[in-house]
Amino acid sequence: QIARAPSNVIALVGMPGGGKSTVGKQLARQIGVPFVDSDHEIEQRIGGSIRQFFDQHGEEAFRDIESEVIEALLKRPGDCVLATGGGAVLRERNRELLHAGSIVLYLRTTPEDLFRRLRHDTTRPLLQVRDPLARLRELYHQRDPLYRRCAHYVLESARPSVHALVNMALMQL
Ligand code: S3P
Repeated sequence: QIARAPSNVIALVGMPGGGKSTVGKQLARQIGVPFVDSDHEIEQRIGGSIRQFFDQHGEEAFRDIESEVIEALLKRPGDCVLATGGGAVLRERNRELLHAGSIVLYLRTTPEDLFRRLRHDTTRPLLQVRDPLARLRELYHQRDPLYRRCAHYVLESARPSVHALVNMALMQL
């Protein structure tokens, strides 16, 4: 029996608000594969919003579900572009699964640029604090090395347009 060719998944990692969904959707359209958003899959599974789930069950319970969803998505047959949640790289196993099972692109944005985009956002539980910029800086310093460890390529996402970013992504593939 001929072994089935492994599916090609392009995974996007990076901070919340860094453009993973926007770039992911356009990239998927350009290469003609489905776009999958792990946060969306998680919300389907829990039957509600991530913010609500965080409030009721806490971050660890969310991370457990996130890990299961990422593993299941990587195992699913078929090509896709996969946008992951900003904290998906926190667990080493997720980093290893993503690195081994997909082409990982890190969309890097500075905390200052992220703050400008997310100032009025109320959907992200980790940013519902008195000083979101300080929080973004802290998260960035914690996570930037993890995104780099997980990724095959780093795309600087602060300056270029979405169009330019999609082209940069296409050139890496
Ligand atoms: C999180 C980012 C969110 C979502 C959850 C936790 C994080 O995804 O998974 O709120 O830890 O940074 P986005 O990166 O799509 O906002």
